[in-house]
Amino acid sequence: ASPIWTGQPIVLIGLMGAGKSTVGRRLATRLGVPFVDADTEIEQAAGMTIAEIFAAYGEQYFRDGERRVIARLMDGSPKVIATGGGAFVNEETRALILAEALAIWLDASIDVLVERVRKRGHRPLLVGKDPAKVLRELAAVRNPLYAQAPIRVPSNNVPHDMTVKAILEAIG
Ligand code: S3P
Repeated sequence: ASPIWTGQPIVLIGLMGAGKSTVGRRLATRLGVPFVDADTEIEQAAGMTIAEIFAAYGEQYFRDGERRVIARLMDGSPKVIATGGGAFVNEETRALILAEALAIWLDASIDVLVERVRKRGHRPLLVGKDPAKVLRELAAVRNPLYAQAPIRVPSNNVPHDMTVKAILEAIG
């Protein structure tokens, strides 16, 4: 039997460009629950953009803030949370999400991710680098971790609304 959603927080995980924020916002609307973007929460708490946090304090500082913000969001109330691609890599955060939330892995091919990150947004991990190479390296490390989510939904070259539909079917 597939995991049935019983109102716990839904947490979208996956690499940069997987569609976590866009799909998450629409999923929340369909479910009638709040949407929270963890990266935006971190930016608001810090009063700086993610890029500024990385530049001023480094990745580790960002990861600490990310861990705290996500822990605060695991309050049992129904909501959809989009996480940054690295959040689920942290062992403590991953354990918390797996225990308290319904994790859904949005899984897209490297080609699709590259296309999406090229079009949108400023990602400090990709600045001045070959995005395909970075994303392949991140996928090698992270996909085995993302695979621990009870639900995996492909997020390739389909409109995001199809992905939302696939999630709604998967969660019962
Ligand atoms: C990161 C992904 C970003 C953001 C930060 C680090 C990562 O979020 O949290 O730049 O480590 O994969 P998105 O996955 O929303 O791009």
